[in-house]
Amino acid sequence: MIDREDLCGKALEMRSRAYTPYSHFRVGAALLCKDGSIYTGCNIENAAYTPSNCAERTAFFKAVSEGYREFTAIAIAGGNDTVESLDYCAPCGVCRQVIREFCDGSFEIILAKSREEYKVYTLEELLPMGFGPENLDKKMLYGADDRL
Ligand code: THU
Repeated sequence: MIDREDLCGKALEMRSRAYTPYSHFRVGAALLCKDGSIYTGCNIENAAYTPSNCAERTAFFKAVSEGYREFTAIAIAGGNDTVESLDYCAPCGVCRQVIREFCDGSFEIILAKSREEYKVYTLEELLPMGFGPENLDKKMLYGADDRL
C-alpha cells in the first residue's frame, strides 16, 4: 500500500533543499521504489540555465544510479518560494518522458499541495501516446518476419 501522505510530506520537505537562485520556484519530489525504499530530489538550477535539473529527474537519476529501476509512485510539490500555500505542480514534459522510460500504467504521479491535499494521475493521463523503449523494438514496428 502506498503511504501517499508520507510521500507528499517528503516531497514538501525537499523543497527546502532546492537550489533556485534564478526562478525562486522550489520543487521537491519523493520517488517510491517497488521494494519500499524512497529516493528524494529537488530542482538544481545553473547560471547557464539549460543545465538545470528538475526535482523529479534528480530523484529518478539518484535511484537509477543506485540500481533501482522499478517504481510505484512519485510525489511532487512545487511553487514559488514566496507563496504561503502551494498550487498543484505538474511535471514538465522532459520529466514525463523520463517517467515513461521506467514506469508502467500502475505508476502513480501524486501532485501535492500539502501532506493531505493531493491529486493522483497516471502517466497515460499526463503523456498520452508517449514514445517509449518498446517503440524502438523493430519487431513491434515492422512485424516479426521483417528483416529490416
Ligand atoms: N521544475 C521542476 O523541478 N519540476 C517541475 O515539475 C516543474 C519545473 C523546476 C525547473 C526550474 O528549476 C523551476 O522549476 C522553474 O521552472
